Amino acid sequence: MSVPTSVSDLRQFLTLLEDRGELHRVTAEVDPKLEIAAITDRVCKSAAGGQALLFERVRGYRVAVATNLFGSTQRAAWAVGATRADEAAERLATGLAGACGENAEERLRSLLQRPEFAPRLQPRGICHSVVMDHPDLSRLPALHCWPGDGGRYLTLPQVFTRHPDGGIANCGMYRVLLSGPRQASIHWRNGSDAARHCQAWHMRNLPMPVSIALGGDPAMIFAAAFPLPPDISETALAALLRRHPIDLAPSQHSDLPVPAHAEYVIEGLVWPGETAMEGPFGNHTGFYQPSAYMPRLRVISISHRPEPVFSTTVVGPPPMENCHLGKVAERLILRLLRIEHPDIVDIHMPVEGIFHGATLISVRPGTCGRSLLQALWRSGPLHGARLLVVTIDGDQRDPATFFWRALNRMDPGRDLLVQDGRLGIDATIDPAGLKVLRPDEAITALVQRRWAEYGFDV
Ligand SMILES: Cc1cc2nc3c(=O)[nH]c(=O)nc-3n(C[C@H](O)[C@H](O)[C@H](O)COP(=O)(O)O)c2cc1C
Repeated sequence: MSVPTSVSDLRQFLTLLEDRGELHRVTAEVDPKLEIAAITDRVCKSAAGGQALLFERVRGYRVAVATNLFGSTQRAAWAVGATRADEAAERLATGLAGACGENAEERLRSLLQRPEFAPRLQPRGICHSVVMDHPDLSRLPALHCWPGDGGRYLTLPQVFTRHPDGGIANCGMYRVLLSGPRQASIHWRNGSDAARHCQAWHMRNLPMPVSIALGGDPAMIFAAAFPLPPDISETALAALLRRHPIDLAPSQHSDLPVPAHAEYVIEGLVWPGETAMEGPFGNHTGFYQPSAYMPRLRVISISHRPEPVFSTTVVGPPPMENCHLGKVAERLILRLLRIEHPDIVDIHMPVEGIFHGATLISVRPGTCGRSLLQALWRSGPLHGARLLVVTIDGDQRDPATFFWRALNRMDPGRDLLVQDGRLGIDATIDPAGLKVLRPDEAITALVQRRWAEYGFDV
């Protein structure tokens, strides 16, 4: 089924999903504290990830809450304007093939700097239609997802920041704990682009402006979570995938751009030295991430579209919505990896490994697995992977067969690599002196021909 390129905001995406039978409206009243998360968790774990959910009556609020929007690989592909995840990846691969640069990062950078992917700047966004007189985060129907969580969270935000010297704005997905009417704490990891920007502002003893958008073009939501190298624009990636520029509008209190069609925009400042407790947070590992001090956001303004829809996700034991976003990302990452490592045939990131925590890689015969593992850990999107397994002719789509092949081919004394707490298995070398077992081709064909004759269903 084709995807209209005209989809450019959350509402149009919801309409698309409804037209395709992929949206379930919950009209019964539900509680944003634990109940919506429990329903979403159960739906996420049903066949093929279940439908997207729109909770129309949320206790204590007049705002509808959408969850599980990207909760199947099909919907995650639609979200980036593609019929299949591989179609999105091919779009990227075609662009990369025509871009210049020595390595994947350089090619990506030059590709996404092309004027055709630059945003369309609107003087004012529809996201600013309604400005709260007294900004109050408690008016957002943010979910409390797990019993031990530290509070109510924004779990699907696009967080915009910029380096104090200027340059392109970064858009990252970092969870936000709402800790007071005008106070929140943002969980950006050390090493994330926002953390880097924040450090630069604070070195100059200046508060950093932050704008947080909810909703807008679903391709932007995907791009916010995609591991792009620093200073490469998420907006341009979304435009490449979507095949049209993304509409941005200025924030009201800073020069940060935000998606013009976002449902909500929260603006504020992070002052040097100011932190607030964040967590615990029930995570995709199946454990609560303990609380820690994170940068505190002092909220200056909250604006929204008329009758906003609040989009959010539930993070927890897989399979969950983020696994499907991860699957589309995996297809894009494969195309990036192949630029420097053309021997990679395919990759698979099992959901149990939580995105790129574990990656199964199949390569062409003759590839030196050990060199490949070391190169992948040095730089690129898999440099943080805790487990990499590389083998030849492995069907990585079927992890059971893949592991069977890999674990029986490798020699633990020779083929295990441990580096900085990461484990690599090089299963590219056939065991010395042993012949590979293969069925007789003629007999296999004969059995196939005579299958019905043996009394089996064909
Ligand atoms: C649902 C979801 C929640 C996420 N939450 C966080 C988070 O709280 N902190 C974080 O550092 N990364 C989080 N990530 C991963 C980042 O979005 C991802 O690493 C992204 O590339 C960060 O952007 P950056 O490279 O511009 O820093 C999350 C991803 C998803 C899909």
